[in-house]
Amino acid sequence: MKLLVVGSGGREHAIAKNLLESQGVEQVFVAPGNDGMTLDGLDLVDIGISEHSKLIEFAKENDIAWSFIGPDDALAAGIVDDFNQAGLKAFGPSRLAAELEWSKDFAKEIMVKYGVPTAAYGTFSDFEEAKSYIEKQGAPIVVKADGLALGKGVVVAETVEQAVEAVQEMLLDNKFGDSGARVVIEEFLDGEEFSLFAFVNGDKFYIMPTAQDHKRAYDGDKGPNTGGMGAYAPVPHLPQSVVAQSIETIVKPVLKGMIAEGRSYLGVLYTGLILAADGPKVIEFNSRFGDPETQIILPRLTSDFAQNITDILDKKEPAITWLDEGVTLGVVVASEGYPLDYEKGLPLPEKTDGDIITYYAGAKFAENSRALLSNGGRVYMLVTTADTVSAAQEKIYDQLKKQDTTGLFYRTDIGSKANK
Ligand code: AMP
Ligand code: GLY
Repeated sequence: MKLLVVGSGGREHAIAKNLLESQGVEQVFVAPGNDGMTLDGLDLVDIGISEHSKLIEFAKENDIAWSFIGPDDALAAGIVDDFNQAGLKAFGPSRLAAELEWSKDFAKEIMVKYGVPTAAYGTFSDFEEAKSYIEKQGAPIVVKADGLALGKGVVVAETVEQAVEAVQEMLLDNKFGDSGARVVIEEFLDGEEFSLFAFVNGDKFYIMPTAQDHKRAYDGDKGPNTGGMGAYAPVPHLPQSVVAQSIETIVKPVLKGMIAEGRSYLGVLYTGLILAADGPKVIEFNSRFGDPETQIILPRLTSDFAQNITDILDKKEPAITWLDEGVTLGVVVASEGYPLDYEKGLPLPEKTDGDIITYYAGAKFAENSRALLSNGGRVYMLVTTADTVSAAQEKIYDQLKKQDTTGLFYRTDIGSKANK
């Protein structure tokens, strides 16, 4: 069987690599992918994620059994609807189901309507109304652009002035274009943050190990928000009872709600949560796998990934199993300056072998050779599995010390919160 993965980052590298290792899978294409992926035997296709008709034509001509869609913007643009209309199978939610991610206001409405615990909020497109809401609520308070903003549309404001400034940038200065034409202003929730992923088919769902991302650029959760600088799974200090409670109070009602709204969900549902004093509450839904969480979750899958997805697409019960021991941890290596301006074209260390996996994101071959050079903000990620968080940290950080990371940087404290 031949498969197609749509996207180009570390998340898609992990998805495609795992699919290629599945039984009965002879070839995995990635569109557009990145050159680093080819070191794992993946085949790149030079078609962008927004070129739906070219992707469909490619899938038809190459006898692709089904496609796995990685990125949120492709889902928001209705790529799954287009594939289905062309008679092709694709794993991911329809445009209407993916609205859980591409409109924060829609996600809030669904949560309120179906009784899912989340922060109190207001949605505004008028600056003066937003300002008086903030002044009434006080700080800390959280300001979010309604639409997709590459993970950068959220401001956790310590003061009323910061919050008003964030609203001004979104509503008056158009910082995020249409994505910021409406803002969701939300109660600040205090507590441990974690992510819960599930494979979903309508009202059936299959929970993955809990994961924790590190969104700030620098050690000690300092610096600007990024796409994610490292992660680990499962979160060892998170009681199973919290997972059970999240399933009952959040996952089940939201999936039932989506069916009731005529937007039945198929794909990966990513729930971002804060464990508040009165239980887990949703800070966001994403309609896809996380990056970098995928890179630390999928190595823990012990069942056959391609078979599991085939079964879900065929409406059969998938037999999904996970490693139930140890911890999988990964550290992202990024270009100095990320998430703002950075240089490209720096030479990268050799790909690791053995029990440390290298997943590539912003990586590209040099003009006349197969030497990999940096080509993006997040460049590559090292991932390993060990008995404990500290043993995994030791393996990864020892390896990173051996690598020449000139012009690149990484956090030195991934997993340290779990490691008290
Ligand atoms: P998001 O892009 O929605 O994941 O938000 C980015 C980060 O902002 C999250 O990872 C949280 O650390 C923080 N955040 C979002 N919403 C809230 C909230 N209501 N209370 C506290 N922190 C929040
Ligand atoms: N790791 C955060 C995200 O994928 O949105």
